[in-house]
Amino acid sequence: MNEPEVAFQSVPFLIRFLFVCIRDTDMKTSNSPFPCSVAIAADTGVIPQATAHYEKRLSDLRGLFLDPESLERRIREENDPICYENYAFNDNQAEGDIFFGTTIIYPGKVGSEYHLTRGHYHRRQDHAETYQALSGYGLVLFEREDGTTRSAELIPGKVTYIPPFWAHRSINTSDVPLVFLWTCPVEAGHDYEALGGRGMRQVVVERNGQPSVEDRSLSASVREA
Ligand code: NI
Repeated sequence: MNEPEVAFQSVPFLIRFLFVCIRDTDMKTSNSPFPCSVAIAADTGVIPQATAHYEKRLSDLRGLFLDPESLERRIREENDPICYENYAFNDNQAEGDIFFGTTIIYPGKVGSEYHLTRGHYHRRQDHAETYQALSGYGLVLFEREDGTTRSAELIPGKVTYIPPFWAHRSINTSDVPLVFLWTCPVEAGHDYEALGGRGMRQVVVERNGQPSVEDRSLSASVREA
């Protein structure tokens, strides 16, 4: 036993006990998981260690597509297929931590409109996020409260940056599952209500076999013509 240990043993038991408790608290100062590498299947998006998972079927997305008749027909004829699903890792809610996960959007269209996610602002709008496609490809639609719109590619080899204050929705324009990795602060949160249940100002539809980003009002009038 070396000298410091002998000195420690001579300290009264209660003080030694408190010292050990404080030291152990210091070693793990939050409820975050310990450092680790998390496996992600790039082709399916499955995260075996996921702490949360959900799926959205076409019937969960009523009100978001341009063509409600085509939506109801697909729900009826295809037994309400899954449009997209989501895996997340890290259920710690402490500010300053990050969480990440995958979204998988299955290929398909409702009428001429490609499969999409609901779209959201962050509950804490000043919080950013990144997306990184792992397989398949598509687009992210963006809009701000002042009506400004943008779109950006979601494609392997590029990281899509989602700045603060921009609502975002993902679209699969490929014919395979679009799998992408998202990463954001845990406190960012999701606000699905701010888009008013209508989705976003722009839509992505197929025109002459190609994806086309258009204003929702224009696409609606083309459909009715
Ligand atoms: Ni987000």
